[in-house]
Amino acid sequence: MNPLVPVARSRFEHAPLAVFPGSAAGAAAVAAEVAALIRSRPPGRPPVVLGLATGSSPVAFYRELVRLHREERLSFANVVTFNLDEYHPLPPEHPQSYRFFMRRHLFDHIDIDPAHTHVPSGTVADEAVEAHCRDYEERIRAAGGIDFQILGIGRTGHIGFNEPGSSARTRTRPVVLDPLTRRDAAADFGGEEHTPRRALTMGVRTILEARRVVLMAWGQHKAAIVRAAIEGEATAQVPASFLQDHDNALFVLDQTAAGALTRFRTPWLLGPLEEQRLDWDERMTRRAILWLAARCRKAVLKLTDDDYNEAGLQALLRRHGSAYEANRIGFYQMQHTITGWPGGRDPARTQPGDAPARPLRAKSAGRYPKRGLVLSPHPDDDVISTGGPLCRLVDQGHEVHVAYEVSGANAVADESLWRALLFVRDAGLADPAGAAQVRAWCDGYERTGVLPATPELRRWKGLVRRHEATAAARVCGVGPERLHFLDLPFYDAGTARDRRVGPEDVRRLGGLLEEIRPHLIYAAGDLEDPHGTHRLCLHVLRDALAGAAASAWRAETELWLYRGAWAEWELDEIDLAVPLSPQEVLRRRRAIVRHETQKDLALFPGGDRREFWQRTEERSRRIADAYNQLGLAEYEAIEAFKRFSPEEFIHQVSA
Ligand code: F6R
Repeated sequence: MNPLVPVARSRFEHAPLAVFPGSAAGAAAVAAEVAALIRSRPPGRPPVVLGLATGSSPVAFYRELVRLHREERLSFANVVTFNLDEYHPLPPEHPQSYRFFMRRHLFDHIDIDPAHTHVPSGTVADEAVEAHCRDYEERIRAAGGIDFQILGIGRTGHIGFNEPGSSARTRTRPVVLDPLTRRDAAADFGGEEHTPRRALTMGVRTILEARRVVLMAWGQHKAAIVRAAIEGEATAQVPASFLQDHDNALFVLDQTAAGALTRFRTPWLLGPLEEQRLDWDERMTRRAILWLAARCRKAVLKLTDDDYNEAGLQALLRRHGSAYEANRIGFYQMQHTITGWPGGRDPARTQPGDAPARPLRAKSAGRYPKRGLVLSPHPDDDVISTGGPLCRLVDQGHEVHVAYEVSGANAVADESLWRALLFVRDAGLADPAGAAQVRAWCDGYERTGVLPATPELRRWKGLVRRHEATAAARVCGVGPERLHFLDLPFYDAGTARDRRVGPEDVRRLGGLLEEIRPHLIYAAGDLEDPHGTHRLCLHVLRDALAGAAASAWRAETELWLYRGAWAEWELDEIDLAVPLSPQEVLRRRRAIVRHETQKDLALFPGGDRREFWQRTEERSRRIADAYNQLGLAEYEAIEAFKRFSPEEFIHQVSA
């Protein structure tokens, strides 16, 4: 295991950081340091005082601590803990309370004395809050101060619940949550209206008084705020940036959370020495040229030697001889991503002089038609994120299957199911016993605004989405015989944060892959959906592909990752760009709006209030505009993919 060693600091970075290939490795390294600290203070010595955080970031860290306790006899008998924060008001037995979280992820699985665990109270009366906060500070002091403080970072830049505007002098106090923080938490509370508005939190000063502070951040959705915290000025607008002023703080990141830092995103800016040492492979070259074009607001072919020199990109001029030659490389790389034949062309219909079907691998380029499998984590991701190419593949004669990985039942409001039940009631479709039950449900909903949360009704919510997906796929020309509803079981276990991929998930997808033996697989590559479903679906695919290592089809299959609802590929990452005509954009919209339950009532809109068809159209138009600005062709819309070989993919999708 890599230890927690910071990388050599670049001149852009104002705080130390350590970068790990994935969150599991990063969390294990943090746990190892905490375990060493605990072991250094056996009973009889002053207790180790840990400052603890909740949220998704520390989950793997707690899992590792529990493992160390169970398998390597790490004892917490001499440990005292103080949590950063708690929603207020919220009782400790509420499943979303931070006290509950801590019990579930750590306290109930280790030998800590419950009296040594402190979490601000979510039930203290309003008039007693101030005194409670003072008392919390006092207890921290009385325990000897915090030895090791664990932090996550919110997308607002908050640490604890110190939202933007929290000064470096703040202490434990009541706070009002930022709207973005509430939106991020809304999924856990079943909608924004049920999400608390207030909380109690340790202050920035309290946090900075800890002798060691480690902030963990995983995932691309944290990349921008991590960059602001590390490379920006220390400011109350980004409270995590105050860690810059701590002598013993460390940001522990995975590669995606670190991805926006200058050292990774635009490393040629680090200085002439670093620039010379860079590996100017195709990707890096393309990224630098696209960056330069954006910076100069010019088409690629119009960049001059002066532009390269002024931006510190002499290395490219040296390598390629002139701006003209370097430009050509960047330009052709981008042009070669574009094809209107995502599955390759029908050799029988290819005319001499037609452009080659470029981004496809030579091995299977001649195979026509192909079997394609679009993997859609939720029942609407196929049309939202790759609806255009899906229609093209069908229209161009390929055998296209769509597999819907989870049921999507969580995102169906009771109101949507109530309407379906009304139909059954009023159409007189149920037998007498069933009709009475349906009437009771409808009456109950009309009285209370909620339906009972039974497995049966949940299954029906899944059916509502199934029918929407079937209608949407029909708009794309895919009939029901090519739709596969996998209902992966990981999705139905507990809350979003508890989900884990199991063998049955992998078996279901693996079985389908063996049945279809796809030449083309399209999978959702946006690891950043707010509830982790897309990420877990990628893990299922990783394991299913690994399990198919011996199958002949796997050697031939091409894997294309699409992104969409939550994030988009950077231009320099795109390997395949499929342009859409205005008519195709409208057809895609017709397919997306078939997902009626996900329109204005969507329970999980994330931080974005636009409807999905709007996001899709704006996103695909933005990519088209970006291509246009680079001096490439002008299209109505583009949908983009990044290619992985199955081996590369298995390796990269870390656990
Ligand atoms: C949790 C806390 C917060 C979280 C932050 C990140 O106790 O104080 O600051 O650390 O909101 O949350 P996740 O890790 O869920 O992204």
